[in-house]
Amino acid sequence: MKHDKELEKLIAAEKYRQATTIDLIPSENLAPLAVREIVSSVLMNKYSEGYPGRRYYPGNAIIDQIELLAQNRAKKLFKLRGAWHVNVQPYSGSPANMAVYLGLLNFGDTILGMQLSAGGHLTHGHKVNFSGMAYKSVSYGVDSKTDLLDYNEILKIARRVKPKIIISGLTAYPRTIDFKKFGEIAADVRALHLADISHIAGLVAAGLHVSPFPYADVVTMTTHKILRGPRGAVIFAKSNLAEKINRAVFPGIQGGPHDNTTAAIAYTLKAAAEPRYKVYAKKVVANANVLAHALKKEGFSLVTGGTDNHLLLIDLSPLGMTGKDAETRLEKSSIIANRNTVPGDEKAFNPSGIRMGTPAVTTRGMGVRDMRQVAEWIRRAVIDKENPASISREIKSFLKKFPV
Ligand SMILES: Cc1ncc(COP(=O)(O)O)c(C=O)c1O
Repeated sequence: MKHDKELEKLIAAEKYRQATTIDLIPSENLAPLAVREIVSSVLMNKYSEGYPGRRYYPGNAIIDQIELLAQNRAKKLFKLRGAWHVNVQPYSGSPANMAVYLGLLNFGDTILGMQLSAGGHLTHGHKVNFSGMAYKSVSYGVDSKTDLLDYNEILKIARRVKPKIIISGLTAYPRTIDFKKFGEIAADVRALHLADISHIAGLVAAGLHVSPFPYADVVTMTTHKILRGPRGAVIFAKSNLAEKINRAVFPGIQGGPHDNTTAAIAYTLKAAAEPRYKVYAKKVVANANVLAHALKKEGFSLVTGGTDNHLLLIDLSPLGMTGKDAETRLEKSSIIANRNTVPGDEKAFNPSGIRMGTPAVTTRGMGVRDMRQVAEWIRRAVIDKENPASISREIKSFLKKFPV
């Protein structure tokens, strides 16, 4: 970095920002040094279009071994046998989902996914995304009284619209997903079932969330959220779909895989199989649970009343405040949490909720007592509208106990 002082300063500033703020964005985490070292290794110099043993470039004998290692570790982590094929090349979660649609559907086919406002992802059929543009997208929501998934209703919609694929998975749904029920609904209407476990992959790996594998045809996941790896993604597909998925990833939508990322994914999958990771994942869930209870005690209203996983959603409408207001107040107070739609919200840009999760703070070493303190700061910033500078000072001093 000697030759680019301008960039060096910016990276140092971002490092300082991360060290001096409480990160409650549930899709973020702090990748370990080993992951950052692997990502910046010489592996980034190689081109290796194709797959192990059938590349379009020479010099790939070692890259082949790395990619096979990542594939095998992915299968081992989720205890999968021969019936499953693994593709570790997607650049990220959105391209992974795009490859699934491209490989298994025809343009214009009907897809059924969860509404954004109910906690689904843009790539599950939203109209501003490829998935909602290239396919006929129909969505299911949550029950208007409980804010929970209503599987009978999803079945009714599926029978009516006869989708080619049903997508389960969450971005902002704080409760357990019944993948078995989704599998039954898909079987009832002869649809494929795609389970997108990007947010909860680490919980599934640790046995803290029901596994989708017995009930899905395809499973996608990102590797940089609760799994704490590099930015990347993995597609698992039943063997009979393997070739279609491979061709969709390359040459369908991507060129050369990022071999440095593949190696860091291999590292991450091994780390996630260790007992230490399970301890971490348990703490993530315990912290989310305590944070949810503490926030309710502080006067906040939570969508579904709490959480089963690593995230929670505050509904700010009873306080007469928007998600944007709360996000800004929190950021000024050194707490980073993103505004988010809550069930019933019409506009994604000005939503009435704020989403919080515990993967990053747990990586930093915070425990349940710290979550009660964090909830108090959130109340002081959002409900009491206290001067953010004084809260920020307290937080900066508190964070010295938790070096990044
Ligand atoms: C459920 C789900 N799927 C896919 C994605 C997309 O991942 P990426 O941002 O890596 O493209 C996300 C990202 O938040 C997600 O939550």
